[in-house]
Amino acid sequence: MDIDTLKKQFRAIYEKEPQGVYFAPGRVNLIGEHIDYNGGLVFPCALSFGTYLLVSRRKDRNTMFTTLNFDHTGTFDECAFTKKPVTWERYPLAVMKEFVDKGYDPWGYDLLFNGDVPGGAGLSSSASIELVTATMLNDVLNAGIDPIELARMSQRAENVFVGMNSGIMDQFASAMGKTGHAIALDCATLDFEWIPLAMEGYSVVVANTNKHRTLTTSKYNERRSECEEATRILAGEIPLNALCELTPEIFEAHAGKIANETIRRRARHAVNENARVKEAIVALKGNDLPRFGQLMNASHRSLKEDYEVTGIELDTLAEEAQKLDGVLGSRMTGGGFGGCTVSLVANASIPSFIATLGARYKSLVGLTADFYIANVGDGARKLE
Ligand code: GLA
Repeated sequence: MDIDTLKKQFRAIYEKEPQGVYFAPGRVNLIGEHIDYNGGLVFPCALSFGTYLLVSRRKDRNTMFTTLNFDHTGTFDECAFTKKPVTWERYPLAVMKEFVDKGYDPWGYDLLFNGDVPGGAGLSSSASIELVTATMLNDVLNAGIDPIELARMSQRAENVFVGMNSGIMDQFASAMGKTGHAIALDCATLDFEWIPLAMEGYSVVVANTNKHRTLTTSKYNERRSECEEATRILAGEIPLNALCELTPEIFEAHAGKIANETIRRRARHAVNENARVKEAIVALKGNDLPRFGQLMNASHRSLKEDYEVTGIELDTLAEEAQKLDGVLGSRMTGGGFGGCTVSLVANASIPSFIATLGARYKSLVGLTADFYIANVGDGARKLE
């Protein structure tokens, strides 16, 4: 939907002009999965799709939330912070609470949201809602908060109010994305580097399993606790704050201390994935796309076998993709348990990739996949 149509919708709903239009993108992670909360290096990029937000001041102190994505409108006041709704408004409300905690008054606005990130696909539609809300409030409240702090506030909002113990990757990518670049983000320090996605002749293709994700939050939080447990055990042996401080060699030298085999595998994934990201970034900078692709494949295997966050849908899409001509690599992206894969595909092979992989997936899993060619866009911003 273009901005003029969104403005028309705003006028039809609220019978006044919007005073501002904002946008924040979703993201796709190229490599570095489930290590942002282990102090690891991740490599996401912002997409050109995301969430739009139009805003206008109200006369009272309520805030009205309307979305064009579902048939659902809610008006909330401060009581929402204690009642905590379970509907989608909890994401913007969570961010509003962060502004309250910093001493701002975020109440008294009419809001219209419209997202074009496929929902539940692991492309961070929720981070894009958080960041577009944070960017809007930062502007209308003249708060002058920098985008990295807005990302931190949005992550905290999701951890505390929504109850998903996510790391910083999604919110950082939505805040700090840059057209044509991926972000090498060190999650231990938040140091980052924009790296041009100069992939001569190749594209990043996202494939959506269209598997409805269930239990994502509880399984995600479980993985996170397993890593914390591994960290606690190893920290009794060697100085350690986070798993990704370890090289694979040092990890293997001490892995035997982790008696529980499952916890050991979870930690092994984190350590090895971090090493893969470092190598993948070197490969990309050196234009070695085949190596980048091999590391993507290895990442998928590790997420399947050691971290166990894939499932038949993601495994089929990634593993069948890996067999096709013109494909350098393919892996699940995001939290897992459904959602999307990301593949590096030769431009000339994209039509056959979509046709063949779509047909194989349908016959093996019984679901229809959707495909998108990732357009790498800019981070959260005011459009008008
Ligand atoms: C979700 C979380 C992120 C990250 C990924 C897995 O998207 O929100 O913080 O942990 O899963 O890499």
